[in-house]
Amino acid sequence: MAKVYLVGAGPGAPDLLTLRAARLLESADVVLHDALVHPETLALAKRARLVNVGKRYGKVSTEQRFIHRALVEAARKHAVVVRLKGGDPMLFGRAQEELDALAAEGIEAEVVPGVTAALAAAATLRTSLTRRGVARTVAFLTPRVGRGETASEWLPAAMAADSVALYMAAGAAASIAGALIDAGKPADTPVALVEDATLAGEVRTFTTLAALRVVALPPASGPVVMLVGEVLRESARAAGHPDSASLRSA
Ligand SMILES: C[S@@+](CC[C@H](N)C(=O)[O-])C[C@H]1O[C@@H](n2cnc3c(N)ncnc32)[C@H](O)[C@@H]1O
Repeated sequence: MAKVYLVGAGPGAPDLLTLRAARLLESADVVLHDALVHPETLALAKRARLVNVGKRYGKVSTEQRFIHRALVEAARKHAVVVRLKGGDPMLFGRAQEELDALAAEGIEAEVVPGVTAALAAAATLRTSLTRRGVARTVAFLTPRVGRGETASEWLPAAMAADSVALYMAAGAAASIAGALIDAGKPADTPVALVEDATLAGEVRTFTTLAALRVVALPPASGPVVMLVGEVLRESARAAGHPDSASLRSA
């Protein structure tokens, strides 16, 4: 009986894959993968046919319906089908739609978690998103919505949390910073932007909400996760972030 595994590839570095994910890749007949999966991770799937179904910044976009069809067809032909997704499959990865599409066809599925981008970024910054007396709540959110969806209610969620991890948000960083300040977050709240977290070309940028509102970010070539919160103050200082009106990459 065919089984489809929704597997987290982690944030980038191939050695952040779980052992379970590595074993499944080794035994896979076919791997349908996201665009940004590291070549060394894909190389583990020695006997599999690799199919790139990746979506990247809306550039090369594979329709979600096509992915569902490809998963179902693969499951009808092969015993071990891996759907390899960036980070953790269950966070901003449309995993539920894929699970539902498989369930509708009576196809068995299993989920293998991965390291999500925000936690990889927190690790690389050596900054815990929770801290006694400073941060007891963390919100994982995205302001991005798909075509035809209602707007994301990200702002109240961000205001209610001590630490905030924003996915798919760097392109709208200035307006996000403005909205947070206008809603009452202190303008000097530290912000870290981590591009290509855990990869060789990782870029870490420290700033504040006030600076982010007015200073344009340099263009990014890789995915960026944005962390906001008081917990980042020490790391920003240690990285030499000089004042609230500038950006500093480390
Ligand atoms: C469609 S979401 C997928 C998130 C993924 N499921 C996860 O758990 O990390 C894509 C967004 O994740 C973030 N992201 C993914 N990989 C990243 C990385 N290596 N470095 C920084 N941000 C990353 C970026 O915000 C990017 O726009």
